[in-house]
Amino acid sequence: MVRCGNDCVLPRPFSIHQVNDNGDIALFFAVWENGKGTKWLSQLKAGDKIDLFGPLGNGYTIHPASHKLLLVDGGVGIAPLYFLAQKALKQGYSVTLLHGASTATNLYPDHLLPAGLEPIPVTEDGTAGKRGMVTDLLPDFAPRADQVFACGPAAMYDEMRKQRTLKSKPVQVSLEVRMGCGLGACYGCSIRTRSGLKQVCKDGPVFALDDLLGDKPDFI
Ligand SMILES: Cc1cc2nc3c(=O)[nH]c(=O)nc-3n(C[C@H](O)[C@H](O)[C@H](O)COP(=O)(O)OP(=O)(O)OC[C@H]3O[C@@H](n4cnc5c(N)ncnc54)[C@H](O)[C@@H]3O)c2cc1C
Ligand code: FES
Repeated sequence: MVRCGNDCVLPRPFSIHQVNDNGDIALFFAVWENGKGTKWLSQLKAGDKIDLFGPLGNGYTIHPASHKLLLVDGGVGIAPLYFLAQKALKQGYSVTLLHGASTATNLYPDHLLPAGLEPIPVTEDGTAGKRGMVTDLLPDFAPRADQVFACGPAAMYDEMRKQRTLKSKPVQVSLEVRMGCGLGACYGCSIRTRSGLKQVCKDGPVFALDDLLGDKPDFI
């Protein structure tokens, strides 16, 4: 949770994107037109200090018996998936990334992705890779994967929930909802799941796809 200047009363949630050997953390974020927090962050200069607290909540879990991992990102979903990919590649897993964006300039550059990761670009307007949505490629790639990990907008998870190819797969997704405290105290991030009411900040943000009911909480 990152405090984004005096104009933002509430801290903003961000994923851990990268951590280097010194323990330095990198964030990767989109700057929204009316987004006070991300605009403030984007205006910081090298050497400026920010106030943040964490890590909070859970993360993706790789099952020991898995070999092939399929990562699916949409928008800035690469933020936490980069961290997962780096860790998984170091541990010897085979990792493929279905890498989606609206257009080529919004794709995280291939040369900055972790070495050894196999990216398959997909853009809505066809300016890079295949034309369409990342979820269009799931029938081709998911059957070969032992686990699927996703980060993207709620509409992407709605589509994934409908796909027959994912029905018997362990799929973990990271949810983006508006957060208040980030600490399990305000209940502002509560969602209903098959296993009851959950707080995204404390019980998540990563959930099993088949645990989600597909309601529309206050998804950003
Ligand atoms: C667990 C978790 C991890 C996250 N990790 C990241 C991350 O690593 N990188 C990242 O960029 N974002 C991430 N987000 C989303 C991020 O928290 C929000 O984008 C951020 O809080 C926006 O703050 P703001 O003050 O700029 O905008 P706000 O003032 O909160 O919103 C202003 C307007 O901006 C637009 N907007 C803001 N956020 C989004 C969004 N996510 N999607 C679409 N429209 C939006 C909407 O129009 C909104 O009305 C994460 C969210 C969660 C819950
Ligand atoms: S953000 Fe306050 S309980 Fe989750």
